[in-house]
Amino acid sequence: MDLKSFRQSINSDLEAALIDHLGQDSQDSLLASMRYSLENGGKRLRPSLLLATLASFGYDYHLGLEPACALEYIHTYSLIHDDLPAMDNDDYRRGQLTNHKKFDEATAILAGDALLTLAFEVLSQGQEDIDPKLSLQLVQLLAQAAGKSGMVDGQIMDMASEEKQLKIEELKNLHAKKTGALIYFAIMAPALIMNLDTAAKDSLARYAKHFGIAYQIQNDLQEVMWTDEERGKKSHGDLDSDKNTYPSLIGKEGALDALDNERQACQAALDDLSNHSEDFDPELLSDFLNYLSMDYGKG
Ligand code: IPE
Ligand code: IPE
Ligand code: MG
Ligand code: MG
Repeated sequence: MDLKSFRQSINSDLEAALIDHLGQDSQDSLLASMRYSLENGGKRLRPSLLLATLASFGYDYHLGLEPACALEYIHTYSLIHDDLPAMDNDDYRRGQLTNHKKFDEATAILAGDALLTLAFEVLSQGQEDIDPKLSLQLVQLLAQAAGKSGMVDGQIMDMASEEKQLKIEELKNLHAKKTGALIYFAIMAPALIMNLDTAAKDSLARYAKHFGIAYQIQNDLQEVMWTDEERGKKSHGDLDSDKNTYPSLIGKEGALDALDNERQACQAALDDLSNHSEDFDPELLSDFLNYLSMDYGKG
């Protein structure tokens, strides 16, 4: 199955599961703020990657719906907090007001907190077809990806690095945490669910790590190559605030080359996996590499 048909087929299941967890009380302003950011046009890359990894090994993707939702909650919270005045201070995301501009700062902070907590509530409830021990391992994997050893650490490194110029290896490490850690969960949660052998896990981990770095390079290239309308944001921008990015450190062409290298490394990991695992069909994960082109997500 190609990626377009796959995404069409998972879409309604994913959206239904998200609504099911959140409920629909129209009087609840915290819920309104959570739903605002969860339902206003995110590309759902991370949950799609998670479900596609299961399907690539012939598993029923429904097995991954709870971890996929949990991951999207964490991602959504990370963006709400990322946009706050104390962090990137952005007024627009996905062509609409950021959460704290639409609501207020306190509500945005709390909506982020509630989404973060909801992720663990959903994941720890487990699923009928998932062994409770496995649920616990998934909770642990998500905590590692989201917190001090993952995304949050990447965000603090991102903030701290505004004061200085990083070496490219340091920036890569920052990206691996800030953006890569959640993408790593998207790929490695299925590896746990399917109880893959070490060699298959290693290849998937390589794919995930290169994908995460590539995705942030692409995001930073969009800032310099796309219009504000195309990005759905206003450039204030990362360059103005002296953020370290691939384009600011090695220029646009250098960053495009680095993006291409990361994409090729993803493909090499898939080739190794195909040689190793007969059950693995590389088509979907290979199609995801098209999302690392400069056209992906243009508004
Ligand atoms: C934006 O991620 C932040 C990054 C880590 C690059 P996405 O581009 O995937 O966010 P959505 O699609 O708006 O949810
Ligand atoms: C966002 O990084 C990463 C996280 C929220 C973890 P950026 O600040 O570079 O992404 P955008 O440009 O705001 O989406
Ligand atoms: Mg940021
Ligand atoms: Mg930002």
